[in-house]
Amino acid sequence: MKFFIDTANLNDIQEAYDLGVLDGVTTNPSLMAKEGISGHDNVIAHYKAICDIVDDNVSAEVIATDFEGMIKEGKELAQIDDKIVVKVPMIKDGVKAIKHFTSEGIRTNCTLVFSAGQAILAAKAGASYVSPFIGRLDDIGYDGLELIEQIVQIYDNYGYATEVLAASVRHTMHLIQCAEIGADVATCPLKVITSLLNHPLTDKGLEQFLADHAKANG
Ligand code: E4P
Repeated sequence: MKFFIDTANLNDIQEAYDLGVLDGVTTNPSLMAKEGISGHDNVIAHYKAICDIVDDNVSAEVIATDFEGMIKEGKELAQIDDKIVVKVPMIKDGVKAIKHFTSEGIRTNCTLVFSAGQAILAAKAGASYVSPFIGRLDDIGYDGLELIEQIVQIYDNYGYATEVLAASVRHTMHLIQCAEIGADVATCPLKVITSLLNHPLTDKGLEQFLADHAKANG
């Protein structure tokens, strides 16, 4: 399973990259706003800065919601760097835009997906990635992981090339269960990735090893 980091924070992206396990980055307009990035040129420059840190797969979301607007914006985003994946919302014009980008060889990430039906549309339009938001489904009393399982099964049935990118991953169990289910990618904040390191027996065992070594070596 690929690990993407879900942030526009350059320090967090660098830290995850330095750990050696990062395969990409997902951003969204809220995450960009959180970092105080505003204005056309600053937004473009920030995406470029992210691309300069990682090896590939930087999702940059369009703001337009009409077909023409999404195409114009998506093409400009794709020109920033070959690592850019144009993130497009799951709406009617979004599906048309994904189809268009696919025909032009521009990679896409279909975002704000909350049902298997939406995921089928994204795959048929040729999206490179589909992003079901599991945490947000859990928040309203639905089972986000069940949706991932359903989509993985459907894509497998028909051999769709679209990769299942589990988004809105909130904690380590989400991440581990996504891996069990067979999600292709999980995107999450840095804390979720680094939390995978933790186990009390690791800390206890290391402490003991170092103490024994110190005793034996004076
Ligand atoms: C996905 O690409 C989204 O940016 C993200 O995962 C949403 O997560 P949230 O529900 O924690 O905001």
